[in-house]
Amino acid sequence: MFKNSFQSVLGQGLKKVRKSERLTQQRVAQKSGLSIPTVRQLEHGHGNLSSFRKLLAALDLKLDGQNLPPGETLGAKVATLRRRRGISQRAISCLLAVTLQTIVSLERYNTGRLDVLEGALTVLGSGVYLIRNGTKKDFYTHAGNASVNHDWHTPMEFLERLYRVFGEFDLDPCSPTKKKSTAPVRAKMRYTAEDDGLGLPWFGTAFLNPPYGRTLGQWTMKAKEEVAIGNAQIVVALLPARTDTSYWHRDIARSAHVFFLQGRLRFGDGRQAAPFPSALVVWGGLRQDISALEEVLPDAWLQSPST
Ligand SMILES: C[S@@+](CC[C@H](N)C(=O)[O-])C[C@H]1O[C@@H](n2cnc3c(N)ncnc32)[C@H](O)[C@@H]1O
Repeated sequence: MFKNSFQSVLGQGLKKVRKSERLTQQRVAQKSGLSIPTVRQLEHGHGNLSSFRKLLAALDLKLDGQNLPPGETLGAKVATLRRRRGISQRAISCLLAVTLQTIVSLERYNTGRLDVLEGALTVLGSGVYLIRNGTKKDFYTHAGNASVNHDWHTPMEFLERLYRVFGEFDLDPCSPTKKKSTAPVRAKMRYTAEDDGLGLPWFGTAFLNPPYGRTLGQWTMKAKEEVAIGNAQIVVALLPARTDTSYWHRDIARSAHVFFLQGRLRFGDGRQAAPFPSALVVWGGLRQDISALEEVLPDAWLQSPST
């Protein structure tokens, strides 16, 4: 399931630009004809697209993206990119937990909410960023590496394989809920965003599927450390296989067993593959854990820390 409570990279970008130009929210509100609360909302990634367009105009910015196709409007570009990716409107609506009509309105009329636009661009891997009008490279923020910002819940079928090896986990350090009945992962203890799993000690056998935003490197650093200092015995993490990132090199390469998964995991309604490859990363895995994982993940490509 794809949950759209997120830290908006576009909103953060708007704020960054405003601050870099030493403008107050009040000044930007005057320039754009919007109210101060609306500007504040947009800087958190919320609000409607017509307000967003006004704010972009006032800051002399536009959205561009390395994978964004041409199109009259952003909605039209989303539609073209979605078709190119072979993803249905219904699948996007499921992934973003919005109605089908919301996606239709976005694509056809270029209307709706900023968080839906950002979610759709992210899901489609648009590589979108904010740039100054009339320039090509000078981008302020980058919102497009598909997995950024959002909470990709671990597919049930994948978890079932892991339960066959570990049984119930001791800890899920980043869970959407405390409630056992609705939590996606079977674990004795859960930390939520309210608790802040990054600031609490981990223990036992932990299963980690962190928010795929800019904090990802903090989660891998924490996972590695919690095992190194003996808080957790083992951390098993489902991560985007972004082997070019600094956190992969710093926290995973030569430090963890990695099972590179063949094909793409299926999120949402289960019909659409994720637009990024995934890997199961294991810190602190004993020989028997790794052998048991090899059995339940027969198609995965195992990389051991010593190699
Ligand atoms: C990718 S989802 C994974 C959810 C679940 N663990 C799973 O595997 O399906 C990441 C989750 O981390 C939660 N989260 C975000 N920031 C957090 C934080 N600082 N501490 C704990 N949880 C956090 C989000 O609410 C979201 O539910």
